[in-house]
Amino acid sequence: MKNLFITFEGIDGCGKSTQAKILHEKLSEIDSTTLLTEEPGGTQGANEIRKLLLRENNFSWSVETEVLLFMAARNDHVEKKIKPALEKGYTVICDRFIDSTLVYQGMRSDLARKLCLSLYHLIGREPNLTFLIDMKPQKALDRALSRKNKEDRFENYGVPFQIKLRDTFLRLAEETPKRIIVIEGDNDKNQIANDVFSHVQKYIINKISN
Ligand code: TYD
Repeated sequence: MKNLFITFEGIDGCGKSTQAKILHEKLSEIDSTTLLTEEPGGTQGANEIRKLLLRENNFSWSVETEVLLFMAARNDHVEKKIKPALEKGYTVICDRFIDSTLVYQGMRSDLARKLCLSLYHLIGREPNLTFLIDMKPQKALDRALSRKNKEDRFENYGVPFQIKLRDTFLRLAEETPKRIIVIEGDNDKNQIANDVFSHVQKYIINKISN
């Protein structure tokens, strides 16, 4: 199956980056035209915007401005990397995508959510599959903070923020059951990887037989 677009989502420290990497390795064994990328970032321009967003500043952006910056970074990423790869028939795996903006920014203001939805078409096309790696917020946050660098200031908002993030991600998954698959993130790493892989296989078999 060609031009499959798969994204991974979840709260900070849920293990989604590890799972995106494992899925990339597994799919690359079958087909070399598989690309792993990440947000915020993925291109030089998007990485510059990432720095604006995640660097510790002595000022803060409004949540609406954050939406515009995340969407600008995403637009560059889609234009220069994701869309061309999909057009060449690659399978693209992206660590975080539009759902992160809908949740991280959208849950903080109605206007931010509306702004994100009004720019939704910039993503070009929706992912075929999105894996939401669901995990208890305290455990995920402990893990995220243990590898803390100068970035990731969303981790600094504490457990209540992560609880709200998790609930908002789960609600989004309920509203979008065809695309978003919730995966139990407390399981062993290999078990999670097998769950993810079997969902991808199921999706491909379904597509081929329909
Ligand atoms: P990321 O580098 O993916 O961190 P992690 O590996 O911990 O998931 O993302 C950095 C932070 O940016 C993370 O806290 C989530 C946040 N973020 C948003 O708030 N909105 C967005 O649209 C995206 C893509 C990320």
